[in-house]
Amino acid sequence: MLFLSTAERRQWERYAEEALRESPEPGYWDSAIRKNLIPAFHFYIATFLAAHGEGERGIGWLESGTLAEEEGLFGCGFLLGFLRRHGGRLIVPVAPFQDPRPFIHFAGVPAMKTARQQFVRQCTHSLPVFDRPLRFMDIGCGDGALTAAVLNHLVEAGKAPGISEVLLIEPSPAMADLAEETVRSALPGVDVMVRNSRIQDCSSTIGNSFDIAMSSLAYHHMPLEQKRVNLSRLKPWIDHLVLFEMDANNDTPDLYTPDLALSVYQSYSRIIDFIFTHDAPVDLAIDCVDSFMMAEIVSLLTEPRGKRLDYHMLRGQWHALFSEVLGPEFSCRCDSSAYADEYMTLFTLHYGRD
Ligand SMILES: C[S@@+](CC[C@H](N)C(=O)[O-])C[C@H]1O[C@@H](n2cnc3c(N)ncnc32)[C@H](O)[C@@H]1O
Repeated sequence: MLFLSTAERRQWERYAEEALRESPEPGYWDSAIRKNLIPAFHFYIATFLAAHGEGERGIGWLESGTLAEEEGLFGCGFLLGFLRRHGGRLIVPVAPFQDPRPFIHFAGVPAMKTARQQFVRQCTHSLPVFDRPLRFMDIGCGDGALTAAVLNHLVEAGKAPGISEVLLIEPSPAMADLAEETVRSALPGVDVMVRNSRIQDCSSTIGNSFDIAMSSLAYHHMPLEQKRVNLSRLKPWIDHLVLFEMDANNDTPDLYTPDLALSVYQSYSRIIDFIFTHDAPVDLAIDCVDSFMMAEIVSLLTEPRGKRLDYHMLRGQWHALFSEVLGPEFSCRCDSSAYADEYMTLFTLHYGRD
């Protein structure tokens, strides 16, 4: 992932204000921008304009941004398509995860599937051997497919003699129902409990111990302050925490900042590229992008901290959080990349009680 210098950040902020006031031609400042960041800069100006009710002018900046896009980073092109489909307005189409299908499609595209298989391998390598059946909690379990995959893999690898209890925490009723069904049929005879709520609404009432808490692409749905509070409530009840996340700077930067736009541009461009390069019906791919990815992107680019849907953090920020809240009783046991390129990384972190 690339970052801006302080001088570049100030320069981008100044240009955004000027773009709103003075309507220069798209590309007006290109000679002053780091060459490889020109598309991301256009994306920033476009989203800034669109969020301020200037969607048509934003479209002009995206059109010119697409001309410089390469290396599978096509954020201007993707957003352009979305704005054209939505009358030039940056509006959240529908809250993600109400309908599980777009997420299930996303989880099955080859690059994501491979990264998630890596996650399963990495946490299996990292976790110790348990001498009794596991008590397992999945925070934001989604459709439960990953829960079942991890648990089956742990047992097959000889890490546990079986599974005794699974707690599924999931706010989307449709996802929670699907997860319960999936986990019950994958693990017959196991005690499966479901809390159809956000982790923030149940972290203070956990009440019994779990060997492992897992959270994949879910714990980022709250700002750092809440991540801290909920983790400290979970701490007494868990011995291991396994996290799968995307490395991005989408939590602490405020709304309309160049840092946020640059992070969103790099991380989501790559992820959306995974979806569009997968050989699937175009309508299905567009639905997945619009009702899942774009809902998150629009929220990140139009809603302030506290209201936005997502707060992905940089890997170092997760370590800082875990050291602060879980330390000194827990130590880091795994920090491995499951997918990595210049712009976007998916990683596994594991902290275990000593
Ligand atoms: C990207 S999906 C990941 C699902 C699953 N963990 C997986 O990797 O296959 C994120 C899930 O987190 C859930 N979620 C959103 N906000 C949450 C919160 N505050 N607490 C717990 N889960 C949350 C969503 O409903 C969604 O099912």
